[in-house]
Amino acid sequence: MGEKTEKNLKEAFAGESQANRRYRFFAEKADKEGFPQVARLFRAAADAETVHAYNHFNAMTGVGTSIDNLSAAVMGEHYEFTRMYPLMIDQAIEEQSESAQTTFEWADAVEKIHYELFQEMLKAVKEKKALANEPYYVCPVCGNTVLGHAPDKCPICSTPGSRFKKIE
Ligand SMILES: [Fe+2]
Ligand SMILES: [Fe+2]
Repeated sequence: MGEKTEKNLKEAFAGESQANRRYRFFAEKADKEGFPQVARLFRAAADAETVHAYNHFNAMTGVGTSIDNLSAAVMGEHYEFTRMYPLMIDQAIEEQSESAQTTFEWADAVEKIHYELFQEMLKAVKEKKALANEPYYVCPVCGNTVLGHAPDKCPICSTPGSRFKKIE
């Protein structure tokens, strides 16, 4: 594949992935404002952007085996909590951007948890161990991710465990 096309695929994948998230947030807002049809249009477009993102991704590297994908996740999360977010937190403090500081700090704390969860899972899959068959719970405020059952209160952001989203 040519260099330009490879770069374009990366860029298009990033853009479509972001559009998917953005449209989902816009759909939530439209629902709150009492425009269900606007919400539907945003959701439909969001799904279509996911199709584009998937196709672009496949034209690049494609989706690997689960062992490949877990390894990639371990590396990505490690980079985020050891390098990317610490630098962003410092810069937010330097520029006195408190809301950015908070969102970076929450993400930094959770990426470390993701790193540990992915690393443990990678090891278990590689060693062909029996895997847990339990739900995960995700904090709707900071993204904290917990296996098995929700805590009484999120240790990162204090949100009550009853608000955590169960991932079957
Ligand atoms: Fe993460
Ligand atoms: Fe939380």
